Amino acid sequence: MRQLLPLADPYGRVATDLRVSLTDRCNLRCTYCMPPEGLPWLPTPDVLTDDEVVRLLRIAVERLGVTEVRFTGGEPLLRRGLVSIVKATAALEPRPDISLTTNGIGLERVAAPLAAAGLDRVNVSLDSLDKDTFRTLAHRDRLDDVLLGLTAARVAGLEPVKINAVLLRDVNDHDAVPLLRFAVDNGYELRFIEQMPLDAHHAWKRTAMITAEEILERLSAAFTLTPDVVERGSAPAETWLVDGGPAKVGVIGSVTRNFCGACDRTRLTADGQIRNCLFAREESDLRAALRGGADDDELAERWRAAMWAKKPGHGIDDPSFLQPERPMSAIGG
Ligand code: 5AD
Ligand code: SF4
Repeated sequence: MRQLLPLADPYGRVATDLRVSLTDRCNLRCTYCMPPEGLPWLPTPDVLTDDEVVRLLRIAVERLGVTEVRFTGGEPLLRRGLVSIVKATAALEPRPDISLTTNGIGLERVAAPLAAAGLDRVNVSLDSLDKDTFRTLAHRDRLDDVLLGLTAARVAGLEPVKINAVLLRDVNDHDAVPLLRFAVDNGYELRFIEQMPLDAHHAWKRTAMITAEEILERLSAAFTLTPDVVERGSAPAETWLVDGGPAKVGVIGSVTRNFCGACDRTRLTADGQIRNCLFAREESDLRAALRGGADDDELAERWRAAMWAKKPGHGIDDPSFLQPERPMSAIGG
């Protein structure tokens, strides 16, 4: 008999939300993530094949109680097998909720095939609506592609289409209000995320970070925000109704209002490592076990053991905090 034993940790949390990074490659170079020259990519033989990814997804859903799967990168649309991986995920039982975090480039082309394969929703990263600011921040002139991708996602019914924005002081901090105006006008749900220390070049400084509080102040200058009464639960975003609703805006205070106590996430990197936290400094190598002939029971047990070692919180505020070696692009959001 196959046994369902969830991914629990000693602090009473149970991980049911799996983030799968499908590639560490990206076609942008957002300064809070990658250096302009890019990073040495994972060697192809190290990256899990489509079949390996789907096998681990099956184990997660059938034996570990995962109910939500989010595909991330790098940029997941750069993964050739994406549509077929989504299709295989949608065929799992019980069928998980399936979403994707993307920079939107190429979404114009694949939004419809992804929706047909079973993708439920997308989060598109967009930090500025100004061509020059976009180029300064992402080091590529691709704003128009992102905007086309957003429209395509809505037309394909991948709703609610969410937008993630990170504000950087003196770079795009003046974009908060225009971004929200754009989201409200077009029916997208915008969420601001406090910048976390996950950049490859370790340039993050707490003092330079635009805090959740500051974001709310800026937005309040142009909009009336009232707290959305829906329970926050394990969702990291605190949400506000914009000008009485129904439009909403979310602010994710990853650093200043950490939500580690309610975390329900587990992460699989493109090279088959389990990370029990975005900020974990240790990983569990499922790829070696998988390629070494481990059966599903053993892989499930290794995954459980990895999650049992989860720390209570990210500790960014602790003087002893050390940034993880992997940058965001190789972890997935
Ligand atoms: N801090 C906060 N958010 C980040 N993202 C990438 N790097 C960081 C960071 N250092 C966001 C991206 C994307 C999601 C995967 O995480 O903008 O929306
Ligand atoms: Fe690419 Fe996302 Fe990193 Fe930007 S944040 S460089 S879009 S992986």
